[in-house]
Amino acid sequence: MTSIDDSTVREPDALRADMVRALRDQNAITSEPVAAAFAVVPRHLFAPDAPLGLAYDLHSTVPVKKDEHGMDISVMSAAHLQAVMLEQAGIEPGMKVLEIGSGGCNAALIQELVGSDGVVTTVDIDHDIVDRARLCLDDAGYGQVKTVLADGEGGVPDGAPYDRIIVTAAAWDIPPSWISELTGNGRLVVPLTVRGTTRSIAFDRDGKDLISHSYRLARFVPMQGEGAAKEERKAMLRDGVAVQADDEQVPLNTQALNRALDTPRLEHWSGAAYDLPDELELYLTLNLSSTARLHASKDVVDSGLVEASALLGVPALVSQDSIAYRTRRENQDTGGFESGVVAHGPQAEALAAQYTDLLRRWAENHRRRGAAAIRYLPGPAPSSPPQVTVQKRHGILAVSWH
Ligand SMILES: C[S@@+](CC[C@H](N)C(=O)[O-])C[C@H]1O[C@@H](n2cnc3c(N)ncnc32)[C@H](O)[C@@H]1O
Repeated sequence: MTSIDDSTVREPDALRADMVRALRDQNAITSEPVAAAFAVVPRHLFAPDAPLGLAYDLHSTVPVKKDEHGMDISVMSAAHLQAVMLEQAGIEPGMKVLEIGSGGCNAALIQELVGSDGVVTTVDIDHDIVDRARLCLDDAGYGQVKTVLADGEGGVPDGAPYDRIIVTAAAWDIPPSWISELTGNGRLVVPLTVRGTTRSIAFDRDGKDLISHSYRLARFVPMQGEGAAKEERKAMLRDGVAVQADDEQVPLNTQALNRALDTPRLEHWSGAAYDLPDELELYLTLNLSSTARLHASKDVVDSGLVEASALLGVPALVSQDSIAYRTRRENQDTGGFESGVVAHGPQAEALAAQYTDLLRRWAENHRRRGAAAIRYLPGPAPSSPPQVTVQKRHGILAVSWH
């Protein structure tokens, strides 16, 4: 006989089984250990105030805490992203793992992966979050996970070295502690923001450097505390149009760029395929000589002033008075879509030519998944860096394509 209590107990189990199947179908889960962890961790117990459907939704975060402007500063991460990052991490039984940014659910998944011989520590900068995570972990039967209140910028020296460090807030840089607290062959998985876009990058330790093992687009609440991003500048050109940059060499002349938008648009078409947008965007943002990110609202896009590529932000090449950015059009000859450039302003022609050249070079030489190798070198930049580099606070990113 099925009692009411039985049915409420069974419902999360059924939702969880569906979730695991869907995560496998979408290639977020690709290994048996990660599937097994997701199959047993009762994620609804880490989101006790949320509807069950939300807690088990693949792509939704569950709000936990907002700042005074109503922006999320803590959420339970979406199952899909947790799965992708745990696969990137390659956690094995018996490992010591540090999670930076708590909530409880992900730490419980990690505890399942390391098993009873492993050790999981989770640190958060916010005491409300640590207290909440502690309660949820105990309630769900994960009392062995250690919770720590601290700014994760310094890692958690008590407990180091770690086989894995997994960061679950968007970081602008990699502080020295995240490298020094890794074992010699340890792995850091970090959502790193580079020129306005965040990617979860799995870095393997390589001596004092880090070398990427894999990277995937990701969205996270921002890191707070000592490591918070301070370098990002944003120029509102007009209602619904903004340009953002984090490199101080990039000119953001609001009035001149806004005037440029009123000049006639110039279009250049590359004749090259537009696909693998994540890979193309990484190449563009790091190879354009003066990169910003152009954002436009739906109203502005609907008005025809700016292309739809800017709805989620698009790499833009900017000068003092001109701007060029990527667009696309249907073209069966290039396999569905062709990439192109829209440019405005007195230097539109020169910027569009430079941009189009990069679109072609990428399509000819690098149009593959995982084509970029990302190396993090702590300390001052070498005098003659061999690859494309991005200056960070504590070191540089050196990226090459093969
Ligand atoms: C997306 S939430 C973490 C989600 C969680 N890992 C889970 O199980 O779903 C990000 C967390 O990072 C925390 N955070 C932000 N900056 C931090 C810092 N400097 N040190 C430690 N935690 C930080 C926030 O307080 C927030 O709780």
